[in-house]
Amino acid sequence: MTTYTFPKDFLWGASTAAYQIEGAIDADGRGPCVWDTFTAAGKIQDGSSAAVACDHYHRWQEDIGLLKDAGFNAYRFSIAWPRILPTGSGAVVEAGLDFYDKLVDGLLAAGIRPMACLYHWDLPQPLEDKGGWQGREVIGPFAEYARIVSARLADRVKDWMMLNEPNVVATHGYGTGEHAPGHKLGEMGMLRALHHQNLAQGAALRAIAAEHSGLTLGTVINLQPCRAEDDRPENVAAAARWDAVWNRVALDGVLRGQIPPLMAEKMKGIVQPGDEEAIRYPIDLLGINYYSRMTMKHEEGHPFDVWWGDAHCDRWTAMAWPVQPDGLYDLLKMFRDDYGNIAVYVAENGAAYDDVVTPDGKVHDAERVAFLRDHVAAVGKAVQEGCNVKGYLCWSLLDNFEWAFGLSKRFGVVRVDYDTLQRIPKDSYHFLSTVAKSGVVEA
Ligand code: BGC
Repeated sequence: MTTYTFPKDFLWGASTAAYQIEGAIDADGRGPCVWDTFTAAGKIQDGSSAAVACDHYHRWQEDIGLLKDAGFNAYRFSIAWPRILPTGSGAVVEAGLDFYDKLVDGLLAAGIRPMACLYHWDLPQPLEDKGGWQGREVIGPFAEYARIVSARLADRVKDWMMLNEPNVVATHGYGTGEHAPGHKLGEMGMLRALHHQNLAQGAALRAIAAEHSGLTLGTVINLQPCRAEDDRPENVAAAARWDAVWNRVALDGVLRGQIPPLMAEKMKGIVQPGDEEAIRYPIDLLGINYYSRMTMKHEEGHPFDVWWGDAHCDRWTAMAWPVQPDGLYDLLKMFRDDYGNIAVYVAENGAAYDDVVTPDGKVHDAERVAFLRDHVAAVGKAVQEGCNVKGYLCWSLLDNFEWAFGLSKRFGVVRVDYDTLQRIPKDSYHFLSTVAKSGVVEA
């Protein structure tokens, strides 16, 4: 058993996303987003929708209470673009801003640092109708949205994250069609969506910085160390290609203003003069979402001729994702060594399991406790070795609308009963609470 003690000012908390928890999709003038359309088209596996989800829009005070009772000092939430600008640009709905205003005041009153993310996948449908992330028309509206929201909240919200996981939006939303808006455009669709998000992010960062000082500006990327299934050269090359697409277009875009050399040829027709400077920005903090490594192999017929290889792993979550805490440790060391030890925090980490409520009315989610313990310990080890990690936020506070899986996959440290909307803190909640309050983990 090793004991890891974290710095006093370490951030402990949870992350959520507007679309996954808020519900109230028609309330107070909110406009439709791509996920509403995707859901209406029958694309959600369990036939559920986010119309109510956790009803956080009406139960936010109770949810702040959960964060507070856990002893968390940070909370990352996302702001719903279609609540603020129902058509994506133009008229602003004050009621939308009011909601986040109240939320932020509530968090601050509870001693919790609000970390706002501007885009967690709920693209206003009218902007998708103009081409969405396949084109450049979204860039201006996104920067303007960032300006509007920060004008209202930046006196109290100091931490601003532009995007959440541009790689997932690009690959699943525009490449394979598994996510909204459901396009199956293959590799070029993915690369276009990635590059245009990079550009929108650069524009939004500049729009906020032009009007405010003293903020912590950043973004959130889902990073997964990519390795080959074995040492066959074609598999090693495939893993490198996927690393370029999945990790480096976003990462090296913002941090280095660089298109990964392995993608340069394919992106020639997408990148215009001046883009590299426009996507680069000296962010103050990078949010890393970590779930697992990726083990890849060469296989034709898939984008970039890459497919999943054997992960060589014996622990799996209910998403059929391998449990690999050492991948998080490797990732954090990579930042220390290759990216100048910039400030990072774990903005999401967690697991879905098939939880049950036992006769005592509780959820004894031992697998999730083990998952969290092992990953927090990996962070502790990295911190001990000089990695500049500022915090750990689990995914997620609540069970929620897990995108194409609907309400069927539970990631929360708090269970949500979707019939009564009752919240039940799971064992994993109590575990994280103990870690947050003591700043110590033993693993
Ligand atoms: C996303 C979350 C999602 C979670 C689990 C991340 O990719 O940011 O919205 O629920 O992973 O799939």
